Order: sequence, then structure tokens, then C-alpha cells
Amino acid sequence: MLGRLNHVAIAVPDLGAATAIYRNMLGAKVTEPQRLPEHGVSVVFIDLGNTKIELLEPLGVDSPIAAFLAKYPSGGMHHVCYEVPDILAARDRLKREGARILGDGNPKIGAHGKPVLFLHPKDFNGTLIELEQQ
Ligand code: CO
Repeated sequence: MLGRLNHVAIAVPDLGAATAIYRNMLGAKVTEPQRLPEHGVSVVFIDLGNTKIELLEPLGVDSPIAAFLAKYPSGGMHHVCYEVPDILAARDRLKREGARILGDGNPKIGAHGKPVLFLHPKDFNGTLIELEQQ
């Protein structure tokens, strides 16, 4: 069921400052910012060839990463995203196994225009997992 690591996401308080660090200090190619109101975040991606880094900044008052940044004001690793071939089959299997799906349990369209789901970190060793259908 589980495929490749699609990206590792890092929550940041200031997307412009974080982009500058990756571009100027680390010499990375960073995409232009993308606003995802449905997910309550603005994002940029850094393509590393074998995987990507996603930098996330809160967007709007109900951003799901606001509490995370209140706890870790300078930012921190927020989630890992694994690829799956069939997101509904993956969800149904995980539900049968007793894992909790965040939100209403239905996939939303993520930053790459593909369906995504988030899994409860307490069911996965304290790691927030995003699944993205390929
Ligand atoms: Co993500």
C-alpha cells in the first residue's frame, strides 16, 4: 500500500524568511508561494530530486498549523507525506485496522492537485502522516 516518500513538511512562522534561507543559505530551488485556503496554509516546495520539502505558513485564523507554531515558535517538522496508489482503498484499510483519519474522512485536493488525507499522529508514533494518491 505504502509507496515513496513524497515530501517532508516543515511549519514556518514566515514563509518569505524561510524561502530566503533555503534559496540563499542552502542554494535550493524554491517554488513560488501557493495559497491553499481549504487547508489553511500557504506553501512552497523544494525539489530535492529523490523527494521534496514543503514549507508551510499559516493562512487565515483557523489554520491547522497555528497551534503547532504556538508550541514551536521558530517552526519545526510538521508531517511526512507518503504516496499511495489508491487513496480510498488505503483509507478503508486503515479504518478497518483502527487508525483515525483526520477531518471528515474524505480526501481533499492537496497542493499537487491530487487527493490527500491526514492520519492521526497518536496512531502513528507521534507523526502526522499525509497520504497522497499518485
Ligand atoms: Co504535505
